[in-house]
Amino acid sequence: MKFTLQHKDPATKARAGELTTDHGVIRTPIFMPVGTAATVKGIFHRDVRDEARAQIILANTYHLYMRPGMEIIEKAGGVHRFSTWEGPMLTDSGGFQVFSLAACRKLKEEGCHFRSHIDGSKHLFTPESVMDTERTIGADIMMAFDECPPGDAPREYAAKSLALTERWLERCFNRYHQTEPKYGHYQALFPIVQGCTYPDLRAHAAENVKQYDADGYAIGGLAVGEPTDVMYEMIEVVNAILPEERPRYLMGVGTPVNILEAIERGVDMFDCVMPTRNGRNGQLFTAEGVINIRNKKWEDDFSPIDPEGTAFVDTLYTKAYLHHLVTCGEMLAAQIASLHNIAFYLRLVGMAREHIAAGDFKPWKDAMVAKLTRRL
Ligand code: GUN
Repeated sequence: MKFTLQHKDPATKARAGELTTDHGVIRTPIFMPVGTAATVKGIFHRDVRDEARAQIILANTYHLYMRPGMEIIEKAGGVHRFSTWEGPMLTDSGGFQVFSLAACRKLKEEGCHFRSHIDGSKHLFTPESVMDTERTIGADIMMAFDECPPGDAPREYAAKSLALTERWLERCFNRYHQTEPKYGHYQALFPIVQGCTYPDLRAHAAENVKQYDADGYAIGGLAVGEPTDVMYEMIEVVNAILPEERPRYLMGVGTPVNILEAIERGVDMFDCVMPTRNGRNGQLFTAEGVINIRNKKWEDDFSPIDPEGTAFVDTLYTKAYLHHLVTCGEMLAAQIASLHNIAFYLRLVGMAREHIAAGDFKPWKDAMVAKLTRRL
């Protein structure tokens, strides 16, 4: 997997690059829509690709392992063929989902015992089993199996948890190197830097992952309840240590402002449920600010949803119509809002990329941040 840095912003740590996978090229900085169960909720792949212009989507090992299960995915010939998404894909390892969804978790050296959130059945995820599962799913980028502690974890717990994540990482890489891709395309393995909000633990974690000479590196355990400025500080600490010539992925972040701030600090890849989840609740992100389309003020606003938007829904439908659909609980409302938001996130990182290339990222970003936080 090749990553080429093409532009470095003169005033900040922002970068623009190209990550080449066997399923296509990803131009960074990039946002990856979340497709937990191998579907970006409510949006046809065709629209994710052609309207939102997504270049890579994310799926979850935990969910696909539960349903439909690995036998079906393998029979289908891997997740690309199963879902018919032909572009690059990434799978999260289940580390985060086991801790946020599953019941009765028991953390042991060997792995994590838990009960399914669907039927209560008992399961064990180990670094080895998760690598095997991610091989069977067949995404272009697999994530290491980690523990993601809460944002306010005390130092002693954070240190113990990080040590466990580091031992699991070694086991992940051992298994990764002992196994082959099943479907003929290359699969990268990205380690995840943990360490909660403790700069020295974060620095230790960043130094530790470097030894694996991975195709890319992720920063996890952020946006889990800590203050935003602490999150930015952790990103700075970690990015000062991670190799410059590899992509950096900030997991599960965030708002449009969070993404621009992280790009400024040298992050290349992002994922977040916010555009789809908040879209389903009637929140629209635009370059002029945030719209709550449920608000009565939109009832008779016959202007387009987003006159500058690139997706067909942005200029085809009016705010009044979308307000009406949301009010009636129509499923088309969720579809329109999700597609709009995903397209907006992709447009935002695309603009960031252009301004990095043009050398004026910083003033553009500062002006954008001021607008993005407005409530319309
Ligand atoms: N998604 C958001 N944060 C995390 C994290 O810390 N670990 C994993 N595996 N996934 C995440």
